[in-house]
Amino acid sequence: MEIPLIGKSKDIEKIRELIKHVSGSSLNVVITGESGVGKEVVAQNLYYKSKRNNKPFIKINCAALPEGLLESELFGYEQGAFTGAHRKKRGKFELANKGVLFLDEICDMSLVLQAKLLHVLQSGEFSRLGSEIDIKSDVWVIAATNQDLEQSVKQGIFREDLYYRLNIIRITIPPLRKRPEDISVLINYYLKQYASRFDNKKFAKPNLDLLKKLNYYHWPGNVRELQNFLKKGMVIGNWEELVDELASCNKTEDNSILPYSARNIVENLSFLEEKNGADLSSFSLKKIKKKALEKIEREVISYVLGKTGWNRSKATKILKISYKTLLTKISDLDIKK
Ligand SMILES: Nc1ncnc2c1ncn2[C@@H]1O[C@H](COP(=O)(O)OP(=O)(O)OP(=O)(O)O)[C@@H](O)[C@H]1O
Ligand SMILES: [Mg+2]
Repeated sequence: MEIPLIGKSKDIEKIRELIKHVSGSSLNVVITGESGVGKEVVAQNLYYKSKRNNKPFIKINCAALPEGLLESELFGYEQGAFTGAHRKKRGKFELANKGVLFLDEICDMSLVLQAKLLHVLQSGEFSRLGSEIDIKSDVWVIAATNQDLEQSVKQGIFREDLYYRLNIIRITIPPLRKRPEDISVLINYYLKQYASRFDNKKFAKPNLDLLKKLNYYHWPGNVRELQNFLKKGMVIGNWEELVDELASCNKTEDNSILPYSARNIVENLSFLEEKNGADLSSFSLKKIKKKALEKIEREVISYVLGKTGWNRSKATKILKISYKTLLTKISDLDIKK
């Protein structure tokens, strides 16, 4: 069943456009992105939108099988090709003929198999293990990985020639935290889906305003984590507790550190909009600005200290501040190990 590619971010819109163009072409595609971002969804969308959609879509996970088994799964074998080959078996390249072969976790394929794959891609032919006969194969290969493919090429783990063969069309799916606009649409979509799957009456509906807080969470497990969160909430029903739990473990990380801290601050200031009756005499833009800056500084410095194992001189280099300033900040901002 086709899963629609949900999302209203520019990134997802661009990917949807790209899918439209590419699905008519059978050009090799590589899909990259962190775990749970939707690489398989994109692969399936490419397939369903193509003319190959009345032929098989066959997926194989290159990380899940040892080399020998993966080889025989891909290319098949003749009877007696090796001990245990009691009868001939067709491989995925044969089964996927005229359809799509989705090679998941492509970076985990051994160099020997990479060479064989390259051969099939170049010649459009392969042979079953234990056979000399070439079999023609018209398969659209779509590959995916959550690893850094370019880095793997540099490290010699992934063949450069195969890289150029496969990487004709590249689809990179950004992590969910980089496209927070998609969170609410995904939530709506999956809440509806699960409501019909779980017992509709018992299903504990969340307060949608409460779920807005989830926009500031960093979602390390991406859409899969969001799905699991929603399932859990629906079954257990303690939405508030679950949301608070997530919000409190909103780890800052790498490049996203600043925007996240900043967004959290805006969130903390939301009382400005909500409480009309708030005591306006206590407001001061200066004070709020100071507090916001302190919060950002505290988060960034703690983060860098954590990353450097509290090596202060390394931290000063990263932060580009003097040693003395760092010590003052640690003390003033009450940063603890
Ligand atoms: N844009 C999206 N719209 C709808 N569902 C999505 C979207 N992105 C991801 N999902 C859902 O999230 C789950 C994880 O997606 P998927 O399996 O495609 O991720 P992946 O990138 O292949 O992850 P992994 O690297 O762990 O294999 C699936 O259930 C999928 O249906
Ligand atoms: Mg996957």
